[in-house]
Amino acid sequence: MSVTAEERKVLLRSQQGELDAVKMYNALAKVVKDPKDAETFRQLAAEEGRHAAVFKALTNEVLRPKNTKAVVIPLLYRVIGKKKLYPIIARGEYDAVKKYESVAARFPEAESVRNDEQRHGDTVLGLL
Ligand SMILES: [Fe+2]
Repeated sequence: MSVTAEERKVLLRSQQGELDAVKMYNALAKVVKDPKDAETFRQLAAEEGRHAAVFKALTNEVLRPKNTKAVVIPLLYRVIGKKKLYPIIARGEYDAVKKYESVAARFPEAESVRNDEQRHGDTVLGLL
């Protein structure tokens, strides 16, 4: 399947976002007080890793995760607490559902990724 330059840009951005989410959820799992939250975030990190692999298969590019969210989100957990933070994380997941709409229409393998992000949002809100 031929991929346009614009589509490739979207796929690379998606791949990067997933990689960053792996780091972010693993970092968050290390600081949260509730063991159930920690276990959930480790599970979500593993699923984001699978998502990154889906996009990597489409881009054939190895990207490196960025640290920003892995630093900022655990910090926010300490400063504003889970009641305020988890809805922000959930909104990020729901935004990804919208963001992946066109990607999933074009690349069927991204449809399960999109469905997972919806569930992730629900799961994170379910921790409150
Ligand atoms: Fe994801």
